[in-house]
Amino acid sequence: MLNDFERVQVLSEALPFIQKFAGRTIVIKYGGSAMQNQVLKNKVIEDILFLSYVGLKPVLVHGGGPMINFWLDKLNIESRFHQGVRITNVDAMEIIEMVLVGKVNQDLVALINQKQGKAIGLSGKDAQLIIASKRFKLSENFVGNIESVNVDILNLLIKEGYIPVIASVAASLHGQAYNINADTVAGSIAGSLDAEKLILLTDTAGIMKDINDPKTLVKLADSNKINQLKQNNIISGGMIPKVDCCIQAINNGVKSAHIIDGRIEHALLLEILTKDGIGSMLI
Ligand SMILES: Nc1ncnc2c1ncn2[C@@H]1O[C@H](COP(=O)(O)OP(=O)(O)OP(=O)(O)O)[C@@H](O)[C@H]1O
Ligand SMILES: [Mg+2]
Repeated sequence: MLNDFERVQVLSEALPFIQKFAGRTIVIKYGGSAMQNQVLKNKVIEDILFLSYVGLKPVLVHGGGPMINFWLDKLNIESRFHQGVRITNVDAMEIIEMVLVGKVNQDLVALINQKQGKAIGLSGKDAQLIIASKRFKLSENFVGNIESVNVDILNLLIKEGYIPVIASVAASLHGQAYNINADTVAGSIAGSLDAEKLILLTDTAGIMKDINDPKTLVKLADSNKINQLKQNNIISGGMIPKVDCCIQAINNGVKSAHIIDGRIEHALLLEILTKDGIGSMLI
């Protein structure tokens, strides 16, 4: 246990990081897989509030894979994936929108507000934050590509001290709903907001060379290194949209992108407010 002196010393060591990042936007993607444990979920939300109270501007984008699977199963709709992205037929699309926008999003908003935060829930449909188009033109698959991002509504909310909480569903100009991978949404929004950092909270230590061995964590990587890992099939499944969106965000001016373990208590504070981060950092 820390004594009071040690406790304030730890706090004061965070000062240079708070000074560096105060006023800067941090886009945090909270993965459905890392959202499973209610105690940890509470801690993640408290970390986000902490960051907000010390002057950083968090924007939260969330997934909800396990919750979507749960409801699709209940309704006997099969879950299938292609390269880490869910194949979405017309029935699945309806359920995904209901679960992500109606349930997962609103649960997160309520949790933040219950802890005296100022959260507001949005999907890509609100104020045309994201305009989507059909990725697979010829199949009945409502996976969307991002056509454009309009962050006016986010800037308005951030300026007034709100924490936007964004579900990764968007519509086309004709109002057709599309399901977009939440990592991809987070990366695009981070680029458009000129964010300081993009942080992806997931259910692994980061990018690992051997997925079963946390000691093989790749601590630092650039786009060359990532391409090499992809070519060797070391990066697969749900990790593919993650590294792709990190590289895209960096190309769009985000200073760094981090893939970290959302199952570790205070992962966000460790990554942002200490010298040695905990996960994979992409630059
Ligand atoms: N090289 C790798 N290192 C670490 N994880 C990897 C690697 N290659 C593939 N993965 C897989 O990527 C998964 C993380 O992506 P996944 O889409 O499952 O979670 P998420 O994006 O956090 O949640 P959600 O999709 O619900 O928002 C890991 O659980 C792991 O199985
Ligand atoms: Mg995923």
